[in-house]
Amino acid sequence: MAQDLTILGLESSCDDTAAAVVRQNGSGPAEILSSVVYDQTALHSAFGGVVPELAARAHAEKLDHCVRAALERAGLTLAGIDAIAVTAGPGLIGGVLAGVMCAKGLSAATGLPLIGVNHLAGHALTPRLTGAIPYPYLMLLVSGGHCQYLVVRGPEEFTRLGGSIDDAPGEAFDKTARLLGLAQPGGPAVEAEARGGDPQRFAFPRPLLDRPDCNLSFSGLKTALLRQRDRILSEKGGLTRQDRADLCAGFQQAVVDVLAAKTRRALGLYLDEAPAAPALAVAGGVAANRAIRAALEGVAGEAGVAFLAPPLALCTDNAAMIAYAGIELYRSGVRHGLDLAARPRWPLDRSSPALLGSGRKGAKA
Ligand code: KG4
Ligand code: ZN
Repeated sequence: MAQDLTILGLESSCDDTAAAVVRQNGSGPAEILSSVVYDQTALHSAFGGVVPELAARAHAEKLDHCVRAALERAGLTLAGIDAIAVTAGPGLIGGVLAGVMCAKGLSAATGLPLIGVNHLAGHALTPRLTGAIPYPYLMLLVSGGHCQYLVVRGPEEFTRLGGSIDDAPGEAFDKTARLLGLAQPGGPAVEAEARGGDPQRFAFPRPLLDRPDCNLSFSGLKTALLRQRDRILSEKGGLTRQDRADLCAGFQQAVVDVLAAKTRRALGLYLDEAPAAPALAVAGGVAANRAIRAALEGVAGEAGVAFLAPPLALCTDNAAMIAYAGIELYRSGVRHGLDLAARPRWPLDRSSPALLGSGRKGAKA
């Protein structure tokens, strides 16, 4: 019988300061006892992106408050905690350091074991936190800073099948919104506009579909959009509401088609291994897009594979996923000492060479 575990998780790798308490009794379902996220959007909004120095300072100021709030909401003190899990990378190094130092302080003061967690592993394991999904499953991580296909085999065992060689899809949505004068974050704004648009009116490329691998590219879509926009501007002097909606619909349809086609390929590779209970899981802010979600669900359905998309609050950055990853790592014997290092880069699949850009231009992972 597996041990009952209650783990405190800390996350501070980008612009969310987060702490959470997750419990798993034996091998039963994991339960989120609390999950607190202090987001820094207002702090960075005037700068058009996350300012690493400001982010790090705000994390250092907020982490202990966040931990206190997470413990209070869980109805616990540190005496009720079995281990402390913390994001030790990849991410903005100042923020990661703030989290790691806070976790080391708590560990040194209480004697509780310390577990360093890879932030991306936190995202990739989330479908096991929210549903009883067995290994191995195929994971598509799609966010503002990341885009990759992973076969998830265990808490430290991942095979990367491919990913973006330039922009992440969320970044492409954000840039598209900026080019069309829509609000940030761009994803929801572009999706709303696209609903009233004609996806056929403007031609958008479908990058890398001619290549048989699982790599993706999104930067060309933004260039195509810029050209179409400028052509309309020079012909008519401005964009109508319909022009804007048609541009958004065409752009979004291109992202949908590329993600659907590459997911079909990744599923083919994964299914070659004949997994006993095949599943496709998706996480990251872009997974909130209804057209993308529906297309991925369709691809999974065609292949007879279960489709899982965790609730949005657990798809975006949070500490519950770090605490849960901590539970799995703890069970597999992982413990770190006070020499745990903060790592700006930390690929999940060490055997897979990093791609140029790797969809990691944005600050977030
Ligand atoms: O996972 P997330 O909150 O943070 C990162 O790790 O990046 O994802 C944020 C990204 C942003 O780029 C945002 O525009 C995009 O997810 N996003 C969407 C939608 N909602 C959020 N993209 C497309 N459609 C949406 N509905
Ligand atoms: Zn993330």
